[in-house]
Amino acid sequence: MKTLSTQVVIVGAGPSGLLLGALLHKAGIDHIIVERQSGDYVLSRIRAGVLEQGTTDLLDYAGVGKRLHAEGLRHDAFALIFKGAFHRIDIAKRHNGRHMTVYGQTEVTRDLMDHRMQLGLETVYSVGDTVVLHDFDSEHPRVTFTKDGEACEIKARFIAGCDGYHGVCRASVPAGSIQNFEKVYPFGWLGVLSETPPVYHEVTYSNTERGFALSSLRSMTRSRYYIQCGIDEKVESWSDDRFWDEFKKRIDPDAAKRLVTGPSIEKSIAPLRSFVAEPMRFGSMFLAGDAAHIVPPTGAKGLNLAAGDVNVLSKAIIEYYQEQSKAGIDHYSARCLRRVWNAERFSWWFTSLMHKFPDTEGFGQKIQEAELDYLVNSESALHSITENYLGLAH
Ligand code: FAD
Ligand code: DHB
Repeated sequence: MKTLSTQVVIVGAGPSGLLLGALLHKAGIDHIIVERQSGDYVLSRIRAGVLEQGTTDLLDYAGVGKRLHAEGLRHDAFALIFKGAFHRIDIAKRHNGRHMTVYGQTEVTRDLMDHRMQLGLETVYSVGDTVVLHDFDSEHPRVTFTKDGEACEIKARFIAGCDGYHGVCRASVPAGSIQNFEKVYPFGWLGVLSETPPVYHEVTYSNTERGFALSSLRSMTRSRYYIQCGIDEKVESWSDDRFWDEFKKRIDPDAAKRLVTGPSIEKSIAPLRSFVAEPMRFGSMFLAGDAAHIVPPTGAKGLNLAAGDVNVLSKAIIEYYQEQSKAGIDHYSARCLRRVWNAERFSWWFTSLMHKFPDTEGFGQKIQEAELDYLVNSESALHSITENYLGLAH
């Protein structure tokens, strides 16, 4: 057995694991990342696109913000469509210029991977489902796995579970020590990425009788669109033509006329779920990002929440080593869960407001329309939605 030692083993090289690695390295703390998939596979997942200012600040601090500032798009507003009418909601004017940035998760991941390569930091890719956690209820946890047929072990002081919703870390916690809170929604999102100019220049959420649609972008020549679809639908039954026909029916008529369509570069269906595991710390093992919580994507909070966790966790581990204090690690779970539940509430509310539910016929639809009407006409409601969209401070 090949044995290595480090201070922190990070399981998962998604955005949470990579960002945590960058922050720990900056503070002189050793770590190794172990990832199930290959680097190319991790980069091929098309997911988040909208970053909060707290997230971009943290990426800057970690030393990976250069391309984000050169190529990311500053967004001062988003829009809502309901009953066929378009309503622009200005965020920046209500919150002293605070704004969002459109920059794909793929690009964030690529920047973090390049940064690791330049610094020569160790990432063990393609370990498949072989990772096993040991002794994390002690101060001497270990992680074992198999790489290219060779059995390996890493001894560490801490394990960071950054391995997403389907990862091994949360699954390793004894059932009696963890509580899961979950809500599954009766629909999914069918997403399409295409090399076409975005029909709206700002992120636009539509509530229609046919269901929800979202128009987003990655650049002024690349669109990211989503439509609400059935929970059991298969992506193969959605040809590009069928997608564009349906999408057109869920945006305002002027936009439908000017929509530029083209072949999809990527097309996938994501189920919608709200999920929180409590607590987020188990002895020497900490959960961060999607490993601990999932929000439905409406409102773009998932990656931003992951960055918030990693910020708190890196500070806690740094405090442990630099000040010999356990205060940060002891407060990690409670500090994160307050911010997490706030974003869970917002994402659940925004999802409930914008989608067609099996019971959103008649009365339900009218109530949604009344709430949307109130929202776009009440300064207090607009202040509240934009405050939540910007996210709670990390
Ligand atoms: P992941 O990205 O899931 O990474 C976990 C990593 O761990 C993966 O690389 C995985 O391969 C690895 N892993 C898993 N199991 C193991 C194992 N056993 N051993 C080793 N490694 C393992 N969020 C936003 O903030 N803004 C948005 O605009 C937004 N839009 C979204 C749109 C869609 C359609 C979807 C699906 C999500 C969106 N999100 C958004 C959410 C965001 O993508 C996630 O919250 C984010 O990917 C979480 O990062 P993570 O690193 O915690 O988890
Ligand atoms: C995107 C995803 C979201 O969930 C959202 O609310 C806004 C934009 C996107 O992928 O661009």
